[in-house]
Amino acid sequence: ERERERDMGGDKMPHAVCIPFPAQGHVNPMLKLAKLLHYRGFHITFVNTEYNHQRLLRSRGTNAVHGLPDFQFETIPDGLPPSEADSTQDIPSLSESTSKNCVVPFHNLLSKLNDMSSSSSSSDVPPVTCIVSDGFMSFTLKAAQEFGVPEILFWTPSACGFLAYTHYKHLVERGLVPLKDASCLTNGYLETTIDWIPGMNNIRLKDLPSFIRTTDPNDIMLNLFIHESEAAFKASAIVLNTFDVLERAAVDSLSSNLPPIYTIGPLHLILNQISDHRLKSIDTNFWKEQPECIDWLDSQQPNSVVYVNFGSITVMTAQQLTEFAWGLANSEKNFLWVIRPDIVSGDTAILPSEFVAETKNRGVLASWCPQEQVLNHPAIGGFLTHSGWNSTIESVSGGVPMICWPFFAEQHTNCWYSCGEWGIGLEIDSDVKREEVEKLVRELMEGEKGKEMKRNAMEWKKKAEEAVEAGGSSSLNLDKLFSQVLPPNS
Ligand code: UDX
Repeated sequence: ERERERDMGGDKMPHAVCIPFPAQGHVNPMLKLAKLLHYRGFHITFVNTEYNHQRLLRSRGTNAVHGLPDFQFETIPDGLPPSEADSTQDIPSLSESTSKNCVVPFHNLLSKLNDMSSSSSSSDVPPVTCIVSDGFMSFTLKAAQEFGVPEILFWTPSACGFLAYTHYKHLVERGLVPLKDASCLTNGYLETTIDWIPGMNNIRLKDLPSFIRTTDPNDIMLNLFIHESEAAFKASAIVLNTFDVLERAAVDSLSSNLPPIYTIGPLHLILNQISDHRLKSIDTNFWKEQPECIDWLDSQQPNSVVYVNFGSITVMTAQQLTEFAWGLANSEKNFLWVIRPDIVSGDTAILPSEFVAETKNRGVLASWCPQEQVLNHPAIGGFLTHSGWNSTIESVSGGVPMICWPFFAEQHTNCWYSCGEWGIGLEIDSDVKREEVEKLVRELMEGEKGKEMKRNAMEWKKKAEEAVEAGGSSSLNLDKLFSQVLPPNS
């Protein structure tokens, strides 16, 4: 296949430079897209920040980021002060820094790649023919324009999340945001419903991406998202990791006024259809996985285990961790709980010793796991999640219903859709209490509502699989992306 594509493009392969926003939930889906492009005959340059590259070297070893002759890794600095730390970076600082400081290094990298392609000694590198950038890295658009190549923006969150961001500016224009004062966070103001976002009827302010929860008109994240979603209009195309029937109204609403949108998810299902063993070792998980979790799941009954994982960014207080612990213990269900070493803000995560003793025969703790595998394991009956988009789409694809504890960003929007529109989620109060955890876990695993959610989740799983089959919407859209935006010799 690759040889055929190469022939079509003449001597030189098309060359995509893929640049994710430097956080786990963005790097993972970008890697999947990069692998798909590689499979279709593209030479890939995958751009990590130096900080993340070092983390990957530590967690995965050199193999993971060594690449192949036609799948190369490059790095640029993120512009933050150097740090040896091995934990999640502060998202507002990172967002501000990348938007200001990565423009020049990225431009220089593109020049370097093109110089390499024209020098006879390293003629294996073809000239850059397109840029595939995270939607939240719109500074790359200027470089694409200067180098005269098309740019695809990959918005890694849900279509509904992206849609909400595109309406941030209208929330400001209508005077709903920023909040008048801090009391708006607690006085019921966030319950205000909005009926003017097409495709998102009667959503409450509290269900919109969390960066509106500010009283500061100059808030970094609020303004960055206004800016980044405006910039999306300048892309050649927009790619989303979702599938049409799941988010039809949001996708239609977005499509009515943005560049062409290609929904090509769930990306991991598309990727699973391709078995290119050369790409297997390329991996971008910042933490070492503990595959023993899978051995333990193998010993468990079908649909009997609650999987608990809050992704790569969520932090909580020590008290919240304790509430989750006792809620799980009191539910008397078996569980696999992934606790990132940095999950408790400013502290080490310590579980009550009584909890550990009481649950030692029915609970497994880990610091990171192979999540896609876990969510496809027959033993998993439900997922207690922070509603990050990757986790949500992976859960949908695995037919696993959820308890949603959104932390920030568009996770609140994902939660609203999971619980309402898709009928596969139960929301838990942000001020988490052990009694509610216990009650919702029991409902999820054995209640009537839980059973209905499981049925719905299995329906969505089927629809996700249909979307990626030959002739399915995502599969067709991927073909269209190649023929319309990324012809081999573009
Ligand atoms: C977030 C969310 O994507 C998004 O909602 C928000 O806009 C910003 O980034 P994150 O909080 O890390 O990312 O969550 P999620 O989207 O669920 O991504 C986590 C990724 O790490 C998933 O692909 C998941 O499979 C993987 N993961 C997580 C593991 O492989 N093992 C783990 O133990 C935990």
